Amino acid sequence: MSGLRKDFLWGGATAANQCEGGYLDGGKGLGTVDVIPWGEHRRAVMQGKLHYNALPEDAYFPSHEAIDMYHNYKEDIALFAEMGFKCYRFSFAWSRIFPTGLENEPNEEGLAFYEAFIDELLKYNIEPVVTICHFDVPLTLEQEYGSWRSRKLIDAYVKYCEVIFKRFNGKVKYWMTFNEINMLMHLPFMGAGIMFKEGENELQVKYQAAHNELVASALATKLAHEINPENKVGCMLAAGQFYPYSCKPEDVLEAMEKDRNNYFFIDVQSRGAYPAYAKKFLERNNIQLEVGADDERILRENTVDYIAFSYYTSRLASKDPNVGERTAGNVIATLKNPHLQASEWGWQIDPLGLRVTMNALYDRYQKPLFIVENGLGAVDVLGENETVEDDYRIAYLEAHIKEMIKAVELDGVDLLGYTTWGCIDLVSASTGEMKKRYGFIYVDKDNAGNGNLKRYKKKSFDWYKNVIANNGL
Ligand code: BG6
Repeated sequence: MSGLRKDFLWGGATAANQCEGGYLDGGKGLGTVDVIPWGEHRRAVMQGKLHYNALPEDAYFPSHEAIDMYHNYKEDIALFAEMGFKCYRFSFAWSRIFPTGLENEPNEEGLAFYEAFIDELLKYNIEPVVTICHFDVPLTLEQEYGSWRSRKLIDAYVKYCEVIFKRFNGKVKYWMTFNEINMLMHLPFMGAGIMFKEGENELQVKYQAAHNELVASALATKLAHEINPENKVGCMLAAGQFYPYSCKPEDVLEAMEKDRNNYFFIDVQSRGAYPAYAKKFLERNNIQLEVGADDERILRENTVDYIAFSYYTSRLASKDPNVGERTAGNVIATLKNPHLQASEWGWQIDPLGLRVTMNALYDRYQKPLFIVENGLGAVDVLGENETVEDDYRIAYLEAHIKEMIKAVELDGVDLLGYTTWGCIDLVSASTGEMKKRYGFIYVDKDNAGNGNLKRYKKKSFDWYKNVIANNGL
């Protein structure tokens, strides 16, 4: 056997807005993600720079139908079970449970949907791993309060958490408070529902929103532990270690600062206080946060149980603005690493970087890690034999899993599990495309929304089934 735990959580991961569809079904309200279009305006809306009300009338919103898992979840879960999934990471759409976020009572139909969904997973002994907020806020909360810039969101979020922790008590044990909490610095509307007003200090708004999320996350952690001490609550980071571009001390410092910038929020969630470097950063940038009288204590007393993260690529930094070539990669800017290959979307492929990142995180926090996203976004072609020969995906995952196992066996990292991103094809978060596919299961749908949504097993389906059956050996 490999050195992974016997109860290692192998599985896959998705998010409500990228796969559910049914965007107004069962009493669901609009979420911020439901007004992010596909196409040329997508990035500006995600950045909070273009208002969604200013979009052309024929704008297409991929979340509205997505892959329609809302109506197909039983078939999809049966396929996950066939692969032998031990766990499945998915998110609740907040606006399915509180359609506007303002109600005092939750929407029973939304809760009943997730209850049936969870029961279906449990039927196959698949452990549900729930992201409470994966890039969505009820749109009304954005319109009324400006989303996370307001402390009102803390109350709305805690109310939502109390409802789901009570309702799913004993059924769901693993929770994550915010998907990729650091994403709000890069895509503020997608990450945290922040739409900027003209002339405002954007840095101030983003750090205030982050502070409010951190307090909400700590309060949710407290509540989860009070309701059931067995509950495990994690933070979630868009991870990927920064390498220095050269051995110049300036580049080494630059890489360290970029890493800190990334770690800032999960430093607070895991250690319970703003780190010294973060306080100095806020001071230097003249950012004054509105902080509640009890915030410090709340953060200190309610740290997370585990560190969840996504890993797609490592990153590269130089102090010299004229050096190197820039490339894409899970939103956070990076220089091109000449030693690495890249995906068709320019995301650099670095399996060893996963081991480096795992070690950096484990050294820093000494808490169990959970890899909750990893995978290759690629163009897949459905062959005449109704499958996809995705050997490139198998090669990518195999190389990453090997390094992951080395981090456990050789470095002693404590790892709870591994869930590949988009185990079934879904809408891409950064581009809104269907063409960027990650799944073991192909879904018949294209970028413009055409297709019959039929599911097909790719070659990687049986490969992953075998990996799980042998616990990674
Ligand atoms: C992560 C997100 O940033 O990366 C997911 O948590 C996202 O929501 C994933 O889908 C892959 O990114 P993309 O842009 O290829 O979908």
